[in-house]
Amino acid sequence: MVQIHDKQFDVCITNEEIQAKVKSLSLELNKAYKGRSVLFIVVLNGSFMFASDLLKGINLENEISFVKLRSYNDFSSLGNVLELIGLNIEVEKKEVIVIEDIVDTGLTISALIDNLTAKKARSIKVCSLLFKPNAFKGTAKPEFIGFQIPNDFVVGYGMDYNERGRNLQDIYKLKA
Ligand code: IMP
Ligand code: MG
Repeated sequence: MVQIHDKQFDVCITNEEIQAKVKSLSLELNKAYKGRSVLFIVVLNGSFMFASDLLKGINLENEISFVKLRSYNDFSSLGNVLELIGLNIEVEKKEVIVIEDIVDTGLTISALIDNLTAKKARSIKVCSLLFKPNAFKGTAKPEFIGFQIPNDFVVGYGMDYNERGRNLQDIYKLKA
């Protein structure tokens, strides 16, 4: 159990389970994109830890870039997506893999996909460590998913509760 701000959280996915899953996602990406060159776009802040582990297992020719988006306040999606740091790399004709910590309503990812589509990426796929199918309001779910989870609020392994808890190595969920 950990206390963050006013709330208590219990472990729900251990670092050992995360590492095994991240390894298998790297292998899956290596296989799916074999022989191709890819552009990874890491969505900050939440994805920094996942991206760092995932990318160590990648053997494809690649570029890595970052965007910083914000759609979340406290426990819920704000409903609009702010771009705090934008893309500063050429996207046209590239095979893009977006790296996300978690896809919840899908708003963040669909705003980014629209942006990449307008910039004429050749292909755009999403690799998300976590996916909340019951919260998802989008049309296409991420192509590469680590764990599907219920609508619990989670922290750790990059994810925060009001900017705390990102450095925790396990993933925790809000205590019922
Ligand atoms: P969406 O736009 O609703 O899909 O939310 C996506 C973003 O909100 C993610 O990239 C996270 O940064 C954040 N987020 C969504 N659910 C959680 C959660 O349970 N804990 C912490 N952050 C979350
Ligand atoms: Mg995120």
